[in-house]
Amino acid sequence: MKHFLKETDFARAELPKLFALARQLKRTRGKRGAPKPLLGQTWALIFSKSSTRTRVSFEVGIHELGGNPLFLNKNDIQLGRGETIEDTAQVLSRFVHGLVVRTYDHAEVERLAAAGSVPVINALTDFLHPCQIFSDAFTMAERWARGTTGQALVDSLRGRKIAFLGDTACNMANSWILGAALFGMKISLAGPKGFAPSAECDALLAREGFDPKTAYNFTTDPLEAVRGADVVYTDVWVSMGKEEETKQRIRLMSPYAVTGKLFAAAKPDALFMHCLPAHAGEEVMPEVLASPRSIIFDEAENRLHMQKAILATLAAKRK
Ligand code: CP
Ligand code: NVA
Repeated sequence: MKHFLKETDFARAELPKLFALARQLKRTRGKRGAPKPLLGQTWALIFSKSSTRTRVSFEVGIHELGGNPLFLNKNDIQLGRGETIEDTAQVLSRFVHGLVVRTYDHAEVERLAAAGSVPVINALTDFLHPCQIFSDAFTMAERWARGTTGQALVDSLRGRKIAFLGDTACNMANSWILGAALFGMKISLAGPKGFAPSAECDALLAREGFDPKTAYNFTTDPLEAVRGADVVYTDVWVSMGKEEETKQRIRLMSPYAVTGKLFAAAKPDALFMHCLPAHAGEEVMPEVLASPRSIIFDEAENRLHMQKAILATLAAKRK
């Protein structure tokens, strides 16, 4: 059973086919004869946290692939009242063809995958957000690739540099570190002392065959990180579940706000990206969000196309 809990659940060799499929699904969206690989299937979305992009793109994507999305707020099912993850996984596996899960503890998606008998997709945990990284990588590749094949798209990422600023210990930072290693990209993260990528992130890199000492660079100097960058990336300073730390985080992270001046220190054709939702005037200034080199809405749209490719791939491997 193939799951998508972390970036490396796709091997490098599988990426060209996946990217080609995302491109094809984007081009054929809404056209007659668009593929329906989920015909007759129901996929459950179990969410413990808020979501706009992930929820809507999965619900629309499953529907467009011929399937039926079933949205379940964790608190509306017995999981929210203490039924075990293992029993929930086994019961749902008797009804549905796949699970898309947004939760806090990353171990929960792993336990659902281990106990159930249907594919599980990680729709964000406190540790990783792989659907976002794959959609972002596809968005970059659309800008950079010389050709239109899946191989050309994937090859266009190799050697490019991402600067990740702000909360360098959050799920997006961890996921981009693993994603950069998988795609052969360089990543430099700049954030406050005490927000260096965790030992857990390093352990994951090592388990997946990458050397944590060379896979990324962490600095407290935002200028060092953006120098030579092809992409300047940021995320909210207060991730879901961290609301109690809001004041302290804003104080510590304010030197890492993506200002026009900081963005100008990256390559002249550098792109600005943000997984959204954004807080204009906090982690990024309005002029950067509105810049012609800001591709935040292409990035959001591509969640739909890349996730449809992921759903179709997992459904095909299930047979
Ligand atoms: N980027 C992202 O995952 O957005 P949502 O929280 O709105 O799903
Ligand atoms: N780091 C953010 C990402 C939101 C898409 C959070 O976890 O809230």
